Amino acid sequence: MSKPDLLMIGPQNDDVTSALEERFKIHRYWEAEDKQALLKDLSDKVRHIATGGSHGASREIIEALPKLELISSFGVGYDAVDVTAAREAGVRVTNTPDVLNDCVAEVTLGLMISLAHRIPQADRYLRDGKWESEGSYPLTDELTGKRAGILGLGRIGKEIARRLQAFKMEVVYHGRNRQPYEPYPYYDDLETMAREVDWLIVIAPGSRSTDGIVSRQVIEALGPESYLVNIARGSLVDEDALVEALVSRKIKGAALDVFAAEPKVPARLIPLDNVVMLPHTGSATHKTRKMMGDLVVKNLLAHLDGNPLISPVV
Ligand code: NAP
Ligand code: 8YV
Repeated sequence: MSKPDLLMIGPQNDDVTSALEERFKIHRYWEAEDKQALLKDLSDKVRHIATGGSHGASREIIEALPKLELISSFGVGYDAVDVTAAREAGVRVTNTPDVLNDCVAEVTLGLMISLAHRIPQADRYLRDGKWESEGSYPLTDELTGKRAGILGLGRIGKEIARRLQAFKMEVVYHGRNRQPYEPYPYYDDLETMAREVDWLIVIAPGSRSTDGIVSRQVIEALGPESYLVNIARGSLVDEDALVEALVSRKIKGAALDVFAAEPKVPARLIPLDNVVMLPHTGSATHKTRKMMGDLVVKNLLAHLDGNPLISPVV
């Protein structure tokens, strides 16, 4: 019997690709020169899509594949998948939650420690020979005793909160809902929380309701002694306002794993010494990416074998 067809929108890691190749005939969308022709050719065949956080699945792709049943997406954030189009077409969508919580929380703390203690800058200072030529590196900040506000106390936000407490920080949070069983003080207004914290940590999903939620007003409410961390999505933050605030020192600094137009990073951020940046590597360890990949495959195989989906979002 021939293998069922699967459309891969962007490249997946080798483990995922070879596991899928055992059960599916894979078509590589990103490699097709004529994407319309590929979609037309597959329109009466493809029931499965594998994709990821950056490639997603557009309405155009979903509507071009009337036999489509499942989109399995690599990553917990599925904002690049047009879930409205999927819902309208009766297509299920899965993501890869939970398996990355510890890794992303760990990277968040790493960014905060790097920014407060200026670890990348001090490392450069040493390598540039300045320790010998100019003497000791200037004094820095620490996390201990500071107040952190988490925007999005979800699966990852809670793991960040646990780690912040181990660093003797006070934790508060903002979301649409108060979580009565959580011990942390709740703010129903983000701008008020921003005004009252030393650190604002952004870890809510990219969505219509969070687009630009960290607005110019919220950034300015943080003030010149406070820091912003964005490990969620670039879409949550008014990036122009953030760059301006960093340049004019309206806030003290920022640690950023995500940007509005990845992989492009605003040129004005590059020379700034009050910013620490990563190229969206919050979940990028061997261990975590393996678990995420396994979940992409398991959801596809569950559907293929007529079993319940493991982590459906639609
Ligand atoms: P989650 O468990 O769904 O938690 C999301 C939290 O955000 C919830 O507490 C939710 O609380 C809050 N929220 C949702 N919409 C909101 C709104 N409009 N205003 C205020 N708060 C809102 O998600 P998660 O698994 O922790 O992941 C969070 C996000 O992190 C992902 O969607 C992804 O974009 C990002 N992420 C990034 C990386 C990376 O590599 N940088 C890795 C993993 C995840 P309420 O429902 O009470 O509002
Ligand atoms: C991934 C992420 O790097 O899970 C998410 O939402 O942002 C990261 O873990 C990304 O989705 C991979 O495409």
